[in-house]
Amino acid sequence: MSLSAAKAPEVKGMQAPQPATLPVRSHDVLAGMPSGRATELEVAHGNRDFVRILDLFGIGGELRPLTPWEAEDEEGRHLVLAGSYAASPFGEAYEPLMTFLRTYLDGTMPLAFPQQTVSAWRAAVETNLVALLAAAMPSHVDSRVLFSNSGAEAVEAAIKLARAARPRATTFVNFVGAYHGKTFGALSLTPSEAYQAPFRPLMGPVRTLPYGDLEALDLALREIGPDKVTAIVIEPIQGEAGIVVPPEGFLREVGEIARRHGILVIADEIQSGLGRTGHWFASTAGGLDPDIVTLAKPLGGGLVPVGATIVRHEVFSKMQSGTHSKRHSNTFGGGSLAMAVALRSLEIIHDEGLVEKARADGAYGLERLRAMQAAHPAFIESVRGAGMLFGIQVRTMAPPRLVPMDPELLPILSSLLFLRALHRDGVHACFSQNSLRVVRFTPALTMPREVLSTMFDRVERVLETHSKPWRMLMTVPPKTLAQLARIAL
Ligand SMILES: Cc1ncc(COP(=O)(O)O)c(C=O)c1O
Repeated sequence: MSLSAAKAPEVKGMQAPQPATLPVRSHDVLAGMPSGRATELEVAHGNRDFVRILDLFGIGGELRPLTPWEAEDEEGRHLVLAGSYAASPFGEAYEPLMTFLRTYLDGTMPLAFPQQTVSAWRAAVETNLVALLAAAMPSHVDSRVLFSNSGAEAVEAAIKLARAARPRATTFVNFVGAYHGKTFGALSLTPSEAYQAPFRPLMGPVRTLPYGDLEALDLALREIGPDKVTAIVIEPIQGEAGIVVPPEGFLREVGEIARRHGILVIADEIQSGLGRTGHWFASTAGGLDPDIVTLAKPLGGGLVPVGATIVRHEVFSKMQSGTHSKRHSNTFGGGSLAMAVALRSLEIIHDEGLVEKARADGAYGLERLRAMQAAHPAFIESVRGAGMLFGIQVRTMAPPRLVPMDPELLPILSSLLFLRALHRDGVHACFSQNSLRVVRFTPALTMPREVLSTMFDRVERVLETHSKPWRMLMTVPPKTLAQLARIAL
């Protein structure tokens, strides 16, 4: 009797196996799902409570892009797109990228995953990334690049490179408010109680210092002993902390202190780099010459996941050399499609002058935000800006007498209500993962000035309508608040 013909023994109480099916087909999605169906499926099989919370507040439904910078929600509301956590440099379906992609897909497809062959696409991206970094810091002229599939993975590579290069050192230094991702090593460098607590013990030791405080750094290095410090890991502008720009001279000084002691510096430019903050690299613009730079988000053009770790060749060769040159690798990193999109993305940022545009639009936007803060001090605690990264910190809402609620929910409630009000007035914005009261606006770098101006007009309208954060509560049915409390607890 053949194996396939063998009858599976029946187990009492177990259902007989069903033939494998695919309940949702690509044509179902292409044809457009009925409104609400995607939410239903996500609640059933995806990140249930997050989807439910967004849905409760009417901000989680599907969006249909109208232009690269504008979309329509399921109720036909027009929205300016300023979400996407700084991962969308050009907006939705940006024609210069799409045209290239069609040509790429219609042409002779190169090998998709050239792990054991040379790849012209990968070579081009490696060369260009190193050239961009070396243009700002010539010491990087012969640096190397490792590719990965996310920001966190680019940080993991940086951690391993630093460990291998300084085997006697034990301790990483990072900063309060930092966000480096949620894989295990990256999470160990992301000092957030909410994200870290369930996963301890994490990678250690890690010494977390106040951001922007040179004295604290100096003191910590003396306490730990510089020989024991593997690397200082720093975001040149903290994104998820709610857009925190360090004091003038801080980055340069961090670099000099590290160099004096032979400590490595890892600049995490996953959010700040490749134009977003008005520079190719915010670290080098601040006078820092990092040993390792991590990149991701915009490198994939808002379409494909691409992470990259640029590293000085002498650090690289401590990990990857000779017979050990496969010590760090992955299956998909450097794949041809990802590299083609990355190459074209770098080209668009360069050729369309998006770095300079981000600087100019950033200055314009920050001026608008400052005017809003001056006009609405009871609503806005502070405004933040670095190129095309904008943030509004909402004043703490103090409604417990009106709405009895767990105080831990208040920060999330403030940003949820602000995001909801913005959505209703036509702006799709995003949370800050490490600073819940800061709502961020990360529009595409290509966004025309008129659209950007419309976005700020709409933000202003929200502030004029509500004037104080707690007033936003009045627009939410008590049932919704009760449901939020139930989900959150
Ligand atoms: C500075 C920084 N580092 C790392 C990451 C993690 O990137 P990813 O979400 O692609 O893993 C992020 C994501 O927001 C980031 O802003």
